[in-house]
Amino acid sequence: MSENMEHIRLVEVGPRDGLQNEARPLGVADRVAMIEGLIAAGLTTIEAGSFVSPKWMPQMADSAEVFRRLTKREGLNLPMLVPNLKGFEAALDTGVEEIAIFASASESFSQKNINCSIAESFERFAPVMEGARAAKIRVRGYVSCVLGCPYEGPVALAAVVNVAKRLYRSGCYEISLGDTIGVGTPHAAAAMVRAVAGEVPMTALALHEHNTYGQALANILACLEEGVRVFDASVGGLGGCPYAKGATGNVATEELVYMLEGMGMRTGIDIDALCRVALETCAKLGHEPASGVARVFAAKNRRPE
Ligand code: HMG
Ligand code: MG
Repeated sequence: MSENMEHIRLVEVGPRDGLQNEARPLGVADRVAMIEGLIAAGLTTIEAGSFVSPKWMPQMADSAEVFRRLTKREGLNLPMLVPNLKGFEAALDTGVEEIAIFASASESFSQKNINCSIAESFERFAPVMEGARAAKIRVRGYVSCVLGCPYEGPVALAAVVNVAKRLYRSGCYEISLGDTIGVGTPHAAAAMVRAVAGEVPMTALALHEHNTYGQALANILACLEEGVRVFDASVGGLGGCPYAKGATGNVATEELVYMLEGMGMRTGIDIDALCRVALETCAKLGHEPASGVARVFAAKNRRPE
């Protein structure tokens, strides 16, 4: 592995990607408590919600109020997901300083997720990017289905590269490559990253792994070896995909931190504090965390009967 492995940036997506898929929606106060807990644990980039249609995604309703209630701090990024101009205007009104737009490498997923083709999604992004430039708002871009689609199965590498390149050239500072349904395996993940890195600088790439088939950490390790240094993760392994049956959440942040720290890399994150957030949030959601690290923490800290 290369020598610069110490500089790993984690993007916590639990309050958005995690909670958007939960059967039991959390209210504003619980979402704020979760995010404040993540900040206290040392995370510095936390996707705090989304400005999408509440009819499509009721779990993300009141994201503006969640954002407003958070204590802003120097060095803390709180990006919000935005699908179109309406969402961008809401973000602007709320005082958001960073947004994330999302496109798909698969036509069918684009239709199911945002009700338009890939080409139409780029038409929607154009005024968002223009507005963001004018308002000096940073934009991150997601590509979904980079290692497979719930409707189409395998996705051509050329489609992934093309969407990533378009997002980057349109002004996104970072492209997060989403294994939306967690079907990827390490060699495929590495090959995908290598292909995208032919068009987008490696330093502008992030990997967004879901753990459906238990491959997330293996895929992350394979992409670390390729040179990726930014990884998305979700506390407690929260989440799933409403448009993909059986899909689970992102790689659990505490499991990723455990692996990276075990490999001698510094994340700046207090793993016990992270486990407490995982357990408290999951208790409110009514299920166990999908994370061995959090379950061990719970067992060790359980009072003797
Ligand atoms: P549409 O129905 O085609 O939109 O939905 P429309 O423009 O025809 O508007 C329909 C209604 O939605 C109207 O309201 C609009 O005002 C409203 P009505 O007149 O019926 O009362 N509307 C909005 N409301 C609030 N905020 C907005 C907004 N835009 C329109 N921004 C739309 C298109 C994109 C809105 C819809 O499909 C949508 O909200 N989809 C969101 C889907 C979503 O959140 N998916 C999950 C995030 S992506 C993801 O998880 C993948 C990722 O994690 C990476 C990975 O894992 O791969 C990022
Ligand atoms: Mg996702």
